[in-house]
Order: sequence, then structure tokens, then C-alpha cells
Amino acid sequence: VRVLIVGCGYVGLALGEILVRQGHEVFGLRRRADNEDLKRAGLIPLVGDLTRPEDLTRLPGPFEWVVNAAASNAGGEEAYRQTYLEGTRSLLRWLSGQPLKKFVYTSSTSVYGQTDGSLVKESSPTEPASGTGRILVETEQLLLEAHRAVSFPAVILRVAGIYGPGRGYWFQKFLRHEVKIASRGERVLNMIHRDDVAGAILAALENGKAGEVYNVADDEPVTHLAFFRWLSETLGQWMPPFAAPEEAEPAPGKRGFTQKKVSNRKLRMELGYQLKYPTFRQGYTAEIIRLDSRLG
Ligand SMILES: NC(=O)c1ccc[n+]([C@@H]2O[C@H](COP(=O)([O-])OP(=O)(O)OC[C@H]3O[C@@H](n4cnc5c(N)ncnc54)[C@H](OP(=O)(O)O)[C@@H]3O)[C@@H](O)[C@H]2O)c1
Repeated sequence: VRVLIVGCGYVGLALGEILVRQGHEVFGLRRRADNEDLKRAGLIPLVGDLTRPEDLTRLPGPFEWVVNAAASNAGGEEAYRQTYLEGTRSLLRWLSGQPLKKFVYTSSTSVYGQTDGSLVKESSPTEPASGTGRILVETEQLLLEAHRAVSFPAVILRVAGIYGPGRGYWFQKFLRHEVKIASRGERVLNMIHRDDVAGAILAALENGKAGEVYNVADDEPVTHLAFFRWLSETLGQWMPPFAAPEEAEPAPGKRGFTQKKVSNRKLRMELGYQLKYPTFRQGYTAEIIRLDSRLG
């Protein structure tokens, strides 16, 4: 299959490697011209900006599978609007009338604004408190509307906090001894290993039902307290201190405080995806082993 990965970064490259190994013809698009990593992985690098129609019409299409995994590297609403909403709109325009079989968009579990600790599934309300979250909801709606109106073959994945080789917000803060546990550490983390994001995108390309939404999170939402306790025991380090009320940790990415457990039942039962790293324990054990072996 001819595949285009738009926004070929941390996740896109991992996905590209799998697709190349399976014998697909894989193109990776991003703005940056330095493409050695893509070439090494056997992808065909393309330089361009998804928000610029003239860049898209120059691409060597048609493609049967398109993945939009572009991420805004800035956090503000304007950057989000450009990358996610306008970027997706420009892809939709460019792809209309092309013989596309599947389009996968990596949305985020930040579309769920729940603060009551409830289990959220794909049918749960998406009413995020943050402006950036609302832009992601609008982007999803644009794709679902295109599916309803012209059978655009969009599948939406709502991805939890991604970690993996070299990545992991709280893990890296923990290693740098920068964590202060807010209140009693009851805040819940929903996580997913990078390789499972790539695996879920592949499953969605192969078997995802157009017009459907799937959460992509692992089996075990975990509280800050339980997560840091596991890291402390595993790495033989002290538990991080508790924060004084006035120095409570702000939410990463300024996305606003949410408290929810993201269900992955639909991913497993309907998409038939089997997680490689069912919980943070397997995923971070692999990362700790990788870091140890690098240190020799
Ligand atoms: N990280 C998380 O925890 C998380 C959680 C939920 C969902 N997600 C979503 O998962 C997806 C993959 O994330 P990631 O961690 O792989 O992101 P990443 O490593 O930042 O990669 C994003 C890629 O998009 C490219 N890009 C950005 N703007 C572009 C534009 N206008 N035109 C073309 N390419 C563009 C970037 O390269 P250039 O800058 O060179 O263009 C980069 O290669 C994203 O959609 C993200 O929103 C991430």
C-alpha cells in the first residue's frame, strides 16, 4: 500500500518503520528538511507544511492510506488551531476526490474534560475546559462530518499521554528529582507506550471502521502516588516529596486539570488490538533497561 504519514515525528517514524518492514511504500511528511532518520528507516522523506495547499498538491500522490500525526510544537490556541484544525481542513480539501481507502487522525484524550474520576469511553461527553481541547473536538467533528457527508474514510484515535524511548513527562521529571507530588497524589495518569500508538494506528488502517472513534490508552490508569511509588521501588530512589498547597504542580501543557480513567475496551474488543505494553510497568521496565544498557 502507498502510505503517507503527515507529521512524521516520534510516533510517525515508529509507525513508518513497521509499515516499511511489512513491505508498504511509506512517505513521511514534515516541514524540517533534515531527514536522515526517515531515510535510515526506509521511508521516503517529503518536505512540506500540511497547512499550505500548494505544498500538498506537490506531493507524489495518490495515497491509499493517510495518517495525520502532526503535532503542534507550541501549546497555545492559535498554534493548535493552525496545526490541528486548519491542517486537517487542508488535508480534507486536498484528498477530496482521491482514491483514499483510510485516513487515521491521532486526536487526544484531552477532549474529555471529566473531573470526577469517572471511566470515560468513546461515547462519553467531550466537553474540555481548555481552549486547546475544544480545538481538538472541532477537528474531530470536521472529520466525522466529512464521513457523514461524503463517506470520507476517517478513523479517529484519542491517544493518552505518550511515553517510550526518550519520552515520558513525569518519568523524566522523576529522574531529574523535580517531582513534587500534588495534594495526596490522587491525580490519575492515562498513558500509552509509543509502540502501542503505532500499533493502534496500524490496526485502524487495516481494520478500523470509518466514522468511528477509538481510545488509545493502556489497561491501567494509575495515580501519581502509585506511579511514583513503583518508580521509587524499581529504581531504588526515594519517593518524591509532597508539594505544599501553594506550590502545586500545574497540569502539563496547560491543558487544565482533568480527573478521569480512559477505557480502552473498544480498542481491544472492536479493533482487536493487543497491547504490547499493557501497563506502565512493562513499558517503563523496557525503558529502564534501555537506559541502563546505554550507560553500560
Ligand atoms: N505526546 C503526547 O503525549 C500525545 C498525546 C495525545 C495525542 N498526541 C498526538 O499524537 C500525534 C503524534 O505525536 P508525536 O509525539 O509523534 O509528535 P511529534 O514528535 O512532535 O511529531 C509531530 C511531527 O509533526 C510535524 N509537523 C508539525 N507541524 C507540521 C506542519 N504544519 N506540517 C507538516 N508537519 C508538521 C513535526 O515536524 P516539523 O516541525 O519539522 O514540521 C513533527 O515531525 C500528534 O497528533 C499528537 O497531537 C500526542
